[in-house]
Amino acid sequence: MKKRYLSLLLIFVITLRLSAQQEWIVPAENLSKLSTFAFSDSTRKAGMNLYITNCKSCHGDPGKNNVIKLVPPPVDPASDRMQANTDGGMYFKISQGRMPMPTFKNILSPTDVWVVISYLRSFNPKYAQEVAPKVLTGAMVQNVKIHLNWLKEKDQVQAVVSGTKDKIEQPVAGAEVKLFAKRYFGNLLIDEARNTDAQGQVLFNFPKDLPGDSTGYVQLLARLSDEEAYGESKSETTLQIGVPTYKPPLNEQRAMWNVVQKTPIWLLLSYTFTVLAVWAFIFYVLFQIRAISKSGLSKDQDTID
Ligand code: HEC
Repeated sequence: MKKRYLSLLLIFVITLRLSAQQEWIVPAENLSKLSTFAFSDSTRKAGMNLYITNCKSCHGDPGKNNVIKLVPPPVDPASDRMQANTDGGMYFKISQGRMPMPTFKNILSPTDVWVVISYLRSFNPKYAQEVAPKVLTGAMVQNVKIHLNWLKEKDQVQAVVSGTKDKIEQPVAGAEVKLFAKRYFGNLLIDEARNTDAQGQVLFNFPKDLPGDSTGYVQLLARLSDEEAYGESKSETTLQIGVPTYKPPLNEQRAMWNVVQKTPIWLLLSYTFTVLAVWAFIFYVLFQIRAISKSGLSKDQDTID
């Protein structure tokens, strides 16, 4: 009897915990992601097949609200709540998943995810698809340039990639950019590699505790990952975004004998005693050798006599 109450209590607590789960927030940069191809009857049909295999067991038949009983409950694809997502928002949620919904990143290819979305959208009569603008690929542009800015109000580093096509300067979309902090030995990757949006722009976050020089300056380097396609284009800039770090030169402070800061007394004493002890030992050995040779000499004289 007691056991039953206990398990009931447990279920109650778990339910409470799960239903207290917050809204599923999609990071801002993922919200505006768009499919690069237009949705059509054939993508919707392929999407339906993918939906039946991967999603239907939980999300049920769209519009019938026969979702499986889970906490939190899956969302009917035809519902307003599902359709209120942006395309990029759906893409993010399907790829990432959230307990109890599994992540589909390793199950569905990016194209498959868009194909499923095209099916989900077929239950929204008001939906009008916006297709991602044509991506300028490496072969189409010349003189690719990266420009780095610090967006102080957002606390992010912005990289803008542009190149010339038909003699007109244009943003390069869909290019992977990596941001590094220059270090003595190699470069330190900051944030993860990101792809430029339609305006050729990427935003990087940087750690709050990034060590800079003594005034907090950090030398940044941005580079395109695909150098074969875009040519070796990189950009360097120095921004005051790091934590000031003071590196004492080796001839100051750390040195044994100096005038700037006194060596600790214990170090001075133990050093002096060690030196004295070594010399004392050397003299002791020398005296012993002398004593040996002396006693040897006197014995020799004894035998001669
Ligand atoms: C194991 C059951 C399960 C499977 C399989 C599953 N989902 Fe889900 N899905 C859920 C649950 C539960 C939620 C609600 C999650 C939450 O709100 O934290 C959800 C939420 C979603 C959302 C977000 C809805 C919102 O609130 O904005 C989308 C989009 C989605 N699922 C799409 C899919 C697609 C597409 C598939 C198949 C490729 C799929 N799901 C497979 C259980 C599942």
